[in-house]
Amino acid sequence: DTPALVDRFGRVAHDLRISITSACSLRCTYCMPAEGLPVIPRDELLSAPEIARLVGIAVRDLGVREVRFTGGEPLTRPDLVEIVRLSALAAPGTPLSMTTNGIGLDRKAEALRDAGLTRVNVSLDTLDREHFTRLTRRDRLPAVLAGIAGAHRAGLGPLKLNAVLMRETLHDAPELLAWAIEHACRLRFIEQMPLDADEAWVRENMVDAAELLAVLRERFVLEPVGREDPAAPAEEWLVDGGPDTVGIIASVTRPFCGACDRTRLTAEGSVRSCLFGDDETDLRALLRSGASDAELADRWRAAMWGKKAGHGIDDLDFVRPVRTMGGIGG
Ligand code: GTP
Ligand code: 5AD
Ligand code: SF4
Repeated sequence: DTPALVDRFGRVAHDLRISITSACSLRCTYCMPAEGLPVIPRDELLSAPEIARLVGIAVRDLGVREVRFTGGEPLTRPDLVEIVRLSALAAPGTPLSMTTNGIGLDRKAEALRDAGLTRVNVSLDTLDREHFTRLTRRDRLPAVLAGIAGAHRAGLGPLKLNAVLMRETLHDAPELLAWAIEHACRLRFIEQMPLDADEAWVRENMVDAAELLAVLRERFVLEPVGREDPAAPAEEWLVDGGPDTVGIIASVTRPFCGACDRTRLTAEGSVRSCLFGDDETDLRALLRSGASDAELADRWRAAMWGKKAGHGIDDLDFVRPVRTMGGIGG
């Protein structure tokens, strides 16, 4: 019986999120600097076989039940299909998902499904092309919509959409919700966290869940139905009596850190125990020095033990992490 990934507050990590690149085809202001993140040299990135080996250890030895690939943008990695294929072989039966901006997904969706990807979450903040272009610094809304359609065609569902709440797009929210329902997508709105590169985030100016609800209620009747499971970040609301719902991820005003079940790997192969807090534990050097699965599992367990109690965004002594969201992977 192997001890799972437990921290000193008794939380158990069952959900592994792996960032596989820092590159991205967009430059969302809440996530990345305009010039993008520094390119990670190829030999510093975990390779597809290395990722798959760690997925196998996580699932076999550490109690991980679900694996999600993030970035940057996972679709920018030329060997993404191979990463998925080898990970599926290393952990048969484990759900493998991806969070993506959708650009290029129309061309890759079928190959990803065949390789073993089970579902995708697509980031989409607004359907207003000008607003989209300003927020992402790229005029690529049509490519994102094509990606969503391609994912549906390939059966990579049920699709979830993620919309970060920004003042510039708040009033696009009702239209986005109507569109999501019409297109069989499960939309979640997300409170922006202080993980932008420009440090433009200010607590007082952040759009919160309450403000969003007021805007949505001008058009829809919403009733709270709670979380899908206790560790789910989103609280669900029934829309116009159902069956459709909308999710709200209120990470800032209603933090869910006490129920957190996440462990993360950076693209360079370090364990990151929390989105916030800069402690990272290198597994790559150990992996490349010929360590056994048991040694890697031990290092991973030790890394999670020190996980922070929570993000502490409202604490007086809160310090932003060095990495922006694009370098952690959401
Ligand atoms: P599902 O399993 O499909 O529900 O995915 P998910 O919501 O776990 O993953 P996704 O990558 O779609 O993340 C959605 C949003 O949740 C992200 O944009 C983050 O803002 C937020 N989020 C994800 N993980 C964490 C976390 O560990 N802590 C906090 N505070 N927010 C998180
Ligand atoms: N706060 C909250 N969510 C963010 N995302 C990116 N940056 C932030 C932020 N600062 C979201 C993206 C994507 C997910 C991985 O993280 O929209 O859906
Ligand atoms: Fe978990 Fe840290 Fe996210 Fe809180 S901020 S939910 S502790 S990863």
